[in-house]
Amino acid sequence: MKYRAVKGMNDILPDTIERWQVIENAFRDTLRLYRFSEVRTPLLESTDLFIRSIGEATDVVEKEMFTFLRSNESLSMRPEGTAGAARAYVEHKIANREPVSRWFYIGPMFRAEQPQRGRYRQFYQAGCEIYGDPGPLCDAELLAMLYRFLSGLGIADLELCINSIGGAETRERYRVALQNYLRPRAAELSEHAQQRIELNPLRILDSKDKEDRIVVSGAPNIIDFLDGDDLKHWNGLCTNLNNLGIPYRIDHGLVRGLDYYTRTLFEVKTNAGQLGSQNTICGGGRYNNMISDLGGSTVPAIGFAMGLERLLLASGFVASCPKPFIFIAPFGENAGRKALHLSETLRSAGWSVELDGREGSIKSMLRRANSLAAPIALVIGDSEVEQGVVQLKDLVGHTQESVPLTELVEHLNRLL
Ligand code: HAM
Repeated sequence: MKYRAVKGMNDILPDTIERWQVIENAFRDTLRLYRFSEVRTPLLESTDLFIRSIGEATDVVEKEMFTFLRSNESLSMRPEGTAGAARAYVEHKIANREPVSRWFYIGPMFRAEQPQRGRYRQFYQAGCEIYGDPGPLCDAELLAMLYRFLSGLGIADLELCINSIGGAETRERYRVALQNYLRPRAAELSEHAQQRIELNPLRILDSKDKEDRIVVSGAPNIIDFLDGDDLKHWNGLCTNLNNLGIPYRIDHGLVRGLDYYTRTLFEVKTNAGQLGSQNTICGGGRYNNMISDLGGSTVPAIGFAMGLERLLLASGFVASCPKPFIFIAPFGENAGRKALHLSETLRSAGWSVELDGREGSIKSMLRRANSLAAPIALVIGDSEVEQGVVQLKDLVGHTQESVPLTELVEHLNRLL
């Protein structure tokens, strides 16, 4: 075969699209309950936006972006949705219009990762962002919405993990303490982790390497370093989650791979769908500095994004049965013209219609109607046209009757 889809990028064919739409519609329905509005931003942004927001030393920016030069401008395919949404929020001065904005998006993201089950180079995220609400009530409400959505999909073994990395000050104090803990143990760490001790020690906490995990298990917890408003926020979040009865686990190793976060961090994992190491179906957190870093005013923000492919693998549901539709099988030239007209009339009456215009044998047309699971086929030949009738074949009950065209809509309404 000469042409194939690009590595890690998948076609989603019509026979699977319904499963996607079920999830997307459920997401939209849930978000409507919480009064979010959809935003659509470009797939391409200036590379600088991602460097500035996600962080230069992150895997996403350092290794995974699809970047190219166009008229001397460096552009990148968006690796996630938060940066572009924040850019739009600042560019259109949304903060001047309303104190709180709730946005959501569904769309493709691009990361040049090594493809495997649940990890692709083009993948779809459903995400949302809240701007302008700093409190722990907002964090808890967002997690309640996430929990409601995921439970509604029937995904088994949901685990909500939360942590807080506080503000810049807390993080700096913790970074020093963590480095003091790690430096004397450097020899016990993987080579990769050793390189991170000075540059980005927090990322060692979520290393999957066995040796690293042993060292990290004795490391100080960042939660113990929270104080003042950071601690108040964290306690507020836990209290609200407890009051709502939302189960969660505090994960001291949860640091997330993007640099923009402040305070609350969370992920949702599942054992369903044989996702193995790619079992994080959702990631998110608070990022109170991004809007001002991108040139806007000081606006707190929080959000999350879910990988739709992972949700599909984990939820494992099958698409519902197709809605009943009418199959029209004409034979003969006059009958074809009449059938085309009839199909439009039936569609105007609200029916979904598939017209077989191939001019094949009745047998082959009916075979197709059966394979599509059409409950009813209307057969029209030239003699039916002359008499002003159609042969209505009930493909479920295996009966046939002649129905006058003038009574057809009424007849179909009674039948289906
Ligand atoms: P993230 O953790 O990088 O966060 O991605 C969120 C989710 O996208 C992951 O949990 C996973 O389900 C899915 N995902 C990520 N990479 C891939 C991939 N290569 N293939 C398939 N699925 C993938 C973010 O993107 C942040 N923007 C989330 C956020 C929103 N934080 C605040 N607001």
